[in-house]
Amino acid sequence: MNLFPDEIRRDPYPLYEQMRSSSPALHIAPFDLWMIFDYEGVKRALTDHDAFSSAVTPPTGKAPEWIVFSDPPRHTKLRGIVQRAFTPRSIAGLEPRIRELSRELLDQRIEHGTMDLAADYAGPLPTMVIAEMIGIPAEDRARFMRWSEAIVNLSHTLSGGEEAARVVSEHAAVKEEMKAYVADLLDARRRAPEDDLLTRLVEAEVDGERLNEDELLNFFQFLLAAGTETTTNLIDNAILCLLESPSELARVRAAPDLVPAAIEEVLRHRSPLQMVFRETRRAIEVHGQTIPAGKLVLPVIGSANRDPQQFRDPGRFDVARDPNPHVGFGHGIHFCIGASLARLEARIALPDLLTRLRGLELASKEPWEPRKALIVHGPARLPVRFEPGRRAGGRAAGAHAASP
Ligand code: HEM
Repeated sequence: MNLFPDEIRRDPYPLYEQMRSSSPALHIAPFDLWMIFDYEGVKRALTDHDAFSSAVTPPTGKAPEWIVFSDPPRHTKLRGIVQRAFTPRSIAGLEPRIRELSRELLDQRIEHGTMDLAADYAGPLPTMVIAEMIGIPAEDRARFMRWSEAIVNLSHTLSGGEEAARVVSEHAAVKEEMKAYVADLLDARRRAPEDDLLTRLVEAEVDGERLNEDELLNFFQFLLAAGTETTTNLIDNAILCLLESPSELARVRAAPDLVPAAIEEVLRHRSPLQMVFRETRRAIEVHGQTIPAGKLVLPVIGSANRDPQQFRDPGRFDVARDPNPHVGFGHGIHFCIGASLARLEARIALPDLLTRLRGLELASKEPWEPRKALIVHGPARLPVRFEPGRRAGGRAAGAHAASP
């Protein structure tokens, strides 16, 4: 089984289907890792954290010290602190700013009638939102984008080799640069608290414990990796799904209150994150196969979300699917902390794109080029065209009041 060719990366679903029926738990000998493809098996791996640890050892060595790679009791402590900074109120407070950023990004391209949706909109929007949320000054944004890329590139290392070694050393350099930068920002917030994530994290305590400087730095690194490319893919994949299904696009245009359900369906149908990492703590039987202790396991959520045992007509993109118990944001104790932020960004982005970019269509008949990192799913570039329109400028865009 080879997941690397572009045509498979664009459409891994026939292969997943084959695997779900022939080998729902498969040993990948060259990497000595296991993949789980069916909904029940994936959900079990995500839920049973006593059997499936998140403290994994990837083929390239030690995993970064990120919350997502931690187990209780350390995970419980980290999650308790981080959750205090991701309250529904603090996420909702970002809404006006996300609308503004979305409007500014569209303003930069709307008169041209063309754009690369990935590079000009879906990429920068989540990165700018996180920069804003953390409290990174606007003038440092370019540096922040460069760091974000180096960190996201870490997920290219799964296959090992020269490319992996280059990415790892690039990341080490960025980590040092970021360390000095974040230390300065933290000092500033300790002296003069502001209304941002940085201040909330500096102040958040669980049982009298705060995050130390290293933990804070690790958390910021992880936010950059977890909150950017995933959300970019959600927006890109939503547009791809809708443009490929004119009848579903027409339904959303006719009934804009379907937008939230349509976004859930994108998370299921073209899951931005296709797989996560676990390691067996002991020998575990899955579908009659024994996975020995200490083995890397990849629960493939992109495949679980297409399992016909769980979803009726799973290959159909249905913007009103209900119920839709997808595992696109994971499940259990590691369920995505940023889910409500990602949903909010997509709920702003989709109506904005569909109302402001009239006649939106793909600009190329060529198959889209998939992103490099194996665990994510979405286009590296997404050239689109539309009728040139007018800039919205400084006035309130009102896109949320209009229908898509
Ligand atoms: C569409 C966008 C996103 C998708 C598909 C996504 C997906 C996921 C998934 C599947 C997990 C579980 C990983 C596991 O079980 O090993 C996860 C965890 C996490 N995500 Fe997201 N994510 C998205 C956006 C975000 C954003 C915007 C943020 C923050 C700003 C974020 C922060 C996190 C954090 C902190 C965790 C770790 C939680 C823990 O270990 O307890 N994510 N995400």
